[in-house]
Amino acid sequence: MNVLVLVGSLRAGSTNRQLADAAIAHLPTGVDGTVFARLADLPHYSEDLDHDDALPEVGRDLREAVADADAVLLVTPEYNGSLSSAVKNAVDWVSRPRGAAAIVGKPAAVIAAAGSPRAATWAREDGVKVLRVAGAAVLEDTVGVGSSFQAFTDGRLGDEALDAELRSLVDDLVDAVEQGARSAA
Ligand code: FNR
Repeated sequence: MNVLVLVGSLRAGSTNRQLADAAIAHLPTGVDGTVFARLADLPHYSEDLDHDDALPEVGRDLREAVADADAVLLVTPEYNGSLSSAVKNAVDWVSRPRGAAAIVGKPAAVIAAAGSPRAATWAREDGVKVLRVAGAAVLEDTVGVGSSFQAFTDGRLGDEALDAELRSLVDDLVDAVEQGARSAA
């Protein structure tokens, strides 16, 4: 099983990247987590680019990565009360072409880290909404890290209860994949 991880902060030293790594560390044995490393290279979605002769390689690769993944984990900062444009753009890319979009039916979950103690509530709500509208089988539960610049020590979440919530959400995502596989069998 493979979980594709989309991280919406593009900066070096991102706390969301640390949160992504903490989530990946909670994946059970035999489940891989892969961060898509080229979101910064993804052009803004345009239908003018969405043709065989214009499709950027990174857009094609993102679609293939989502199609090949068993689940998607969206990890986003809160920017001006919503999810980051980098992950919104990624969702837009994988929500097309209509009728053959890689995200449709894919188990997905949202986690977020942000500077305010409100723990990126709005970014998480919008992340769930956007994934649902795009057609993913998104978990309603999310995990948010507030005051994110103080939240990690050596890549680990200092708040053990929050770390347990993260582990539980990761387990729920893996369960969703397994349930989907059982009902398809
Ligand atoms: C922010 N930040 C922020 N924080 C928050 O809690 N709510 C918000 O609406 C915003 N808005 C916002 C807009 C912009 C343009 C920036 C650059 C920042 C702070 C943000 O959450 C903080 O920088 C995060 O830590 C970014 O995540 P990374 O880069 O550490 O992963």
